[in-house]
Amino acid sequence: MMETERSDRMKLVTVIGARPQIVKAAALSREICRHPDLNEIIVHTGQHFDANMSAVHFETMQLRPPDYNLNISSLSHGAMTGRMLEAIERVLLAEKPDYVVVYGDTNSTIPAALAAKKLFMPVVHIEAGLRSFNMRMPEEINRILTDRISDLLFCPTETAVRNLENEGYRNFDCEIHKSGDIMQDAALHYSQIAAERSTIIADLDLDRFIFCTIHRPENTDDPSRLASIIDALNAINRDVPILLPLHPRTRKILTERGVTPRFRVTEPVGYLDALQLLKHCSLVVTDSGGLQKEAFFFGKHCVTLRDETEWLELVELGFNVLAGADPESIHAAATRMLDKTSDFTLDLYGRGRAAENIVTCLREHYCRTH
Ligand code: UD1
Repeated sequence: MMETERSDRMKLVTVIGARPQIVKAAALSREICRHPDLNEIIVHTGQHFDANMSAVHFETMQLRPPDYNLNISSLSHGAMTGRMLEAIERVLLAEKPDYVVVYGDTNSTIPAALAAKKLFMPVVHIEAGLRSFNMRMPEEINRILTDRISDLLFCPTETAVRNLENEGYRNFDCEIHKSGDIMQDAALHYSQIAAERSTIIADLDLDRFIFCTIHRPENTDDPSRLASIIDALNAINRDVPILLPLHPRTRKILTERGVTPRFRVTEPVGYLDALQLLKHCSLVVTDSGGLQKEAFFFGKHCVTLRDETEWLELVELGFNVLAGADPESIHAAATRMLDKTSDFTLDLYGRGRAAENIVTCLREHYCRTH
């Protein structure tokens, strides 16, 4: 395309890097593509690089390959953040976007926001306002710092808006919008495709099962917490079979410590397979942020292997239980949630219209400011 044509269009640079960000960016990109006046450049930091953590997601989500691949991964937090900051700044200087779009709370989010802010490029934070109130989580640090330097903050929930208001954000030079949760957009759209294409339920011969994931450093890096969780899962597995697709870091740690779970473990699964697992499971047991909500989207209860959550509304309304890492609490919570019935029709996350809301706000903002 000619440079003159391009310059008439509103240009976004989207920065992603970790598995869930690919899912979220795909949902927004589908909406962006419907507007010829928008031009999106995709930058992948490389944070997640295994085929089943990254490339597979691009294919199944029909997200076009990134325009830039920075190949930065497997480093300490400081080194990863530092190298990303430098590399993203170079891309932004070359692309000169009107907006820089970042997602969530990962080590790819904060360097993108920081590089953009220091170049006076407006930062758009999707999934703003979430808080666990646990400053020992790298994600909590990433999300608080990103929120503070963002210009447009898109909150998935009312709780997230309230968190920002409580921190005085109405006095800051930024806009706060409640957009709904973009992961619900993705779940609604891709679950139909998953039903047609994924064969995981038949392939693994699954009937009644619990869908489990573990990857948070607070669980994996603390030997006693990890051992307690595995013990609890071994016990639950005697009643209802557990299926655990393993994040590469958790696998590495279990192997190093010589721990062999007595339940079924697989490689990480693609997004479509994950959606089918959510649809067919009896319960979700996880320490993932995203999966807690996805359980709700698919009408499933969740037991969360953490002491706090960013999705408080699910706990308050009884869809989710925080069980920490204590084997007895986990077992008791799983037993209780397996028997429970709830009404999952409540609209907590915007019913799949987040991408549309975000693009509408961005276009209005662009018209107002250009
Ligand atoms: C990151 C995010 C977390 C998010 C999660 C989703 C941060 C601080 N955390 O955690 O919020 O919920 O992604 O999955 O950004 N590794 C591989 N192959 C991969 C990816 C990772 O082997 O494709 C290994 C590497 O040794 C790497 C380690 O896992 O150093 C940790 O990965 P990293 O991306 O730092 O954090 P996650 O635990 O995935």
